Amino acid sequence: MCGIFGCILKEGKAAPLIHASLKRLEYRGYDSVGVATIQDGEIYLKKDKGKIDDVHRLLNLDDLPGNLGIGHTRWATHGAPLKVNAHPHTDCTGNIVVVHNGIIENFSELKLELENSGHVFVSKTDTEVIAHLIEENLGKNAELTLADAVLETVKRLDGSYAIAVISTKEPDKVICARNESPLVLGVSDNGVYFASDIPAFLPVTNKAVFIEDGELISLSATGYEIKKIKDSSVVKRKPKVIAWTPEMAVKQGYPHFMLKEIHEQPATLRNTLRMQEHYLDLISTFLDRATEVFMVACGTSYHACLAASYMFSKLAFLPTYPVYASEFIEQHGKSVNIDSTILAVSQSGETADTLAAVTCAQQRAATVLGLTNAIGSTLTRVSRVYIGQQSGPEIGVAATKTFTSQLSVLAQLALRLSKKRGKISQDEMDYIEARLEELPDMVETIIQTQEEKVKQLAKKYKDAKLFFFLGRGISTATAYEGRLKLMEIAYIPSIAFPAGESKHGPISLIEQGFPVVFICAKDGTRKTLVSNIMEMKARGASIIAIVEEDDEEIKALSDDYIEVPKGIPEVMSPIPFAIPLQLLAYYMTLEKGQNPDTPRNLAKSVTVK
Ligand code: AGP
Repeated sequence: MCGIFGCILKEGKAAPLIHASLKRLEYRGYDSVGVATIQDGEIYLKKDKGKIDDVHRLLNLDDLPGNLGIGHTRWATHGAPLKVNAHPHTDCTGNIVVVHNGIIENFSELKLELENSGHVFVSKTDTEVIAHLIEENLGKNAELTLADAVLETVKRLDGSYAIAVISTKEPDKVICARNESPLVLGVSDNGVYFASDIPAFLPVTNKAVFIEDGELISLSATGYEIKKIKDSSVVKRKPKVIAWTPEMAVKQGYPHFMLKEIHEQPATLRNTLRMQEHYLDLISTFLDRATEVFMVACGTSYHACLAASYMFSKLAFLPTYPVYASEFIEQHGKSVNIDSTILAVSQSGETADTLAAVTCAQQRAATVLGLTNAIGSTLTRVSRVYIGQQSGPEIGVAATKTFTSQLSVLAQLALRLSKKRGKISQDEMDYIEARLEELPDMVETIIQTQEEKVKQLAKKYKDAKLFFFLGRGISTATAYEGRLKLMEIAYIPSIAFPAGESKHGPISLIEQGFPVVFICAKDGTRKTLVSNIMEMKARGASIIAIVEEDDEEIKALSDDYIEVPKGIPEVMSPIPFAIPLQLLAYYMTLEKGQNPDTPRNLAKSVTVK
């Protein structure tokens, strides 16, 4: 999960654009950065460990000549985040330069073979073997074009890659290739661009060309040519216009992407209500005919699947099995079969664990359906049918708007399925659909009326060493999500589990003043939840309730509470109840003086297993 970007411009220097574009990809990895350009047959290269702003301050990444170049921002997988391991990497001569996102699984044997042929390596990365392999291929046959040498090289690579190569051999070309890792082209009147993700080139063009696995692309000032790696057949693919404006991908005045994206949720939820009917129908038809349905995802997307399992059961009487993608192969790899349906949920559409689970299911003839935010991502290409969640770019590493969008789409699928199966009355259906339409305004109200209260809560509990997040029923999923948010950006240890489990062990942790966050949706679980609150309170816990505005009983039992509007249908409660938890994690992070957008050790898209 690194970020690559490069361009060939008709007018202007490449380096400043590469630098600015890498900044927009920083969420994909930020432990080192580098840029390389070509001018008059010379390679110019700057790179170092550290975040982009720090390296730029040291080296001035804009100060490289030439209208053609490539750049990289890294999240270390092979080799520590040191300057020597920063991309771009070169061959022995320094005339071939490569940037790469992914993992070359057979790099050790390739490296040994190349070292035995006299190649000298300087880094510990898998990427460097690509540069030397290209050099080896060109050395064996000087007639080879750069594209041919890259083609021969990638045919030897096992694993995932999105690479870009420049060389003094053909100083007016950039050669790219992709397998599993994301790669997209941009085209404009002033040039061509390649990137790991669309926001990188959005300020200069909204015309994108999606690259598929197993394709090699030759970029030149006049345009691009796509070929299939396996048989060199030429692929004709026109650009698509992307509806995102550059502003959508920058902070719009908010201090952090995460806060912008929390505040964007009323708008993004409205977008999810404009789903393409055709895809909702198609996916719910597949689910209706399914004999067994696994929902496969990681992290926040898994929590959306957990919540959805209650929605499908309660609205459509459809049993579904939410499974952590990283466990799917072990748990179900042998039993999944032609009668299985997999609904894979992934915001990025590139999460390696989720794609691995999907590949395993496909190899056993299961039907794969996809829900993602990234159209053109790998998940959209491996799914039989997919549906976009239409949340717009989510740059903050912590998933917020994409979580509530996923829940909205899943709720709509459950409603559609319920209609097909006649499981709930038309009146109930109309009631739930009307509430779904109100959700964007409801979320707006929560943000407007409760944000200040959450800020105060964060100040009050900023020194707490451990939190519990508890809920019952569908609110268990909400509790898990609240826990993940607080852990991943505020680095506060947090534990979540169904509230009914407290007395089976965890309650032994409770001491005076121990903060316990309860998700108090007014659904069928409320009565027993009140008992759970009482048992914690009796042992000295500080009760923090996320509660419906008219629930005076629970407010009276709480040390602190955050209110959400009343009248939320049970199956939709995770959407409004998640908002205070997102804000709590955000403001706790600020209280700790940390940056919510770039939490340590994490990257936005986990494209390694
Ligand atoms: C959520 O805040 C995290 N950033 C992470 O758990 C994320 O949800 C997970 O990696 C799955 O990502 P995906 O939806 O892109 O597959």
